[in-house]
Amino acid sequence: MKLLTKTLFLCLVICLTNGAPAHHEHAAVEDGGTDAALPDRCAGIEFDAITPDEKGTTFFFKDGYVWKGFGGAAHLSNESFKELDDIHNIGHVDAAFRMHNTEHPDEHDHVFFFLDDKVFSYFGHNLEDGYPKEIQEAFPGVPTHLDAAVECPKGECTADSVLFFKGHDVHVYDIATKTVKIKTWSHLPVCTSALRWLEHYYCFHGHNFTKFNSVSGEVNGTYPKDARSYFMSCPGFGHGGRYTVPKCSETKIDAITTDDAGKTYFFAGHIYMRLDTHRDGLHAFPITRSWKEVTTGVDAVFSYDDKIYLIKDDQVYIYKAAGQYTLIEGYPKTLKEELGIEGHVDAAFVCPSEHTVHIIQGQKMHDVDLTATPRVVTQDHSLTLDGVDAGQCGPEGINLFKGPQFYHYESAKALAESTVTPAPQPITAAMMGCRD
Ligand SMILES: *[C@@H]1O[C@H](CO)[C@@H](O)[C@H](O)[C@H]1NC(C)=O
Ligand SMILES: *[C@@H]1O[C@H](CO)[C@@H](O)[C@H](O)[C@H]1NC(C)=O
Ligand SMILES: *[C@@H]1O[C@H](CO)[C@@H](O)[C@H](O)[C@H]1NC(C)=O
Repeated sequence: MKLLTKTLFLCLVICLTNGAPAHHEHAAVEDGGTDAALPDRCAGIEFDAITPDEKGTTFFFKDGYVWKGFGGAAHLSNESFKELDDIHNIGHVDAAFRMHNTEHPDEHDHVFFFLDDKVFSYFGHNLEDGYPKEIQEAFPGVPTHLDAAVECPKGECTADSVLFFKGHDVHVYDIATKTVKIKTWSHLPVCTSALRWLEHYYCFHGHNFTKFNSVSGEVNGTYPKDARSYFMSCPGFGHGGRYTVPKCSETKIDAITTDDAGKTYFFAGHIYMRLDTHRDGLHAFPITRSWKEVTTGVDAVFSYDDKIYLIKDDQVYIYKAAGQYTLIEGYPKTLKEELGIEGHVDAAFVCPSEHTVHIIQGQKMHDVDLTATPRVVTQDHSLTLDGVDAGQCGPEGINLFKGPQFYHYESAKALAESTVTPAPQPITAAMMGCRD
């Protein structure tokens, strides 16, 4: 077997799609060969099971093999989940899901595998004591020889649940009450695997997938779609350009903000990344996917009163956040008209429960009262720091980003009054999804 231990080159392939995952994390082997004995998922594979692990990496299973993430080659599944084959040696998994059970932290984020009538529970890729168990013992009422399984947290299902698929029947297992309700979704293809990804639900069948509503099973839009164009990086499939995840030491962001729903975004060039969805991994999308009118990147972004303000050159775009972002009528407007300032904006942020936006331009910080009409600068401050790229204010204080480093301040007041620049700290992979 040819060794595939070459340097991994990570990039994201971005595809513009409607509602389906729009990119692929792609680990290309720089100069490795392929091994004829390993299956190739770009050939069109029907997966046995798909599940994320506790870190948000998605695993795709077929027979005794597994693919880790949206890119890269297959390896033996017993290399990632040692006991899966040892005990049974049946060479495949029927179904797998990651548990959503915040009431029981000892089970939350554990990954469960179903093989015939047995269930295996893993955490940190280690089999837990007492497993494998009979399915009946761990999940009373759930049938053996399953086709697929997927987590369904409260909010997306009526209670924290697991959807178990067998034929056209869906056994909805309520985690707290350990009870099962059976629904029949004859309009859906028989799912051989199922995945929850970025709050959406996907049934995989053949090399295709169908997106469905987690409560009603309803299918909206044009399905099936080819999984190779959306969930993996395959030559000749997918659309669009590439985004290369930078090294942390080479990171440079344009803007960062957390909206009122707790969604954190950073912006760099033509892409943005959600940082609060780490349960599903970090993913990059084109800015135009969520903010269609903002086509040339951003200089600064801030959130206030269920709206997100994107600033580019002398234009301000204000979007209402209600599930999707909608540009408010009459926008973009000029900076002067909207915020009473002129010139290039480096960074802008609003602290939680405040009504002032702090706008950084070079070594100046302007405070603008967001409750006043028209909006006017109420105060100007001089900063010791110059060349700031982005700024963010949260319960822990303010971070100003400059290249691959950030500077921390206790509060806007502390920043305004500071006479010395605090020691810079490096941006880490955990903060921004960059490479160490
Ligand atoms: C994994 O499975 C293969 C093929 O079934 C077997 O040859 C190998 O010894 C197994 N490896 C481990 C670590 O169990
Ligand atoms: C996949 O979906 C396409 C339609 O998008 C359909 O023509 C094709 O038969 C499907 N293939 C499989 C294997 O399900
Ligand atoms: C399906 O689409 C229709 C029309 O766009 C919409 O009204 C409905 O809420 C959608 N249903 C689901 C489950 O997404």
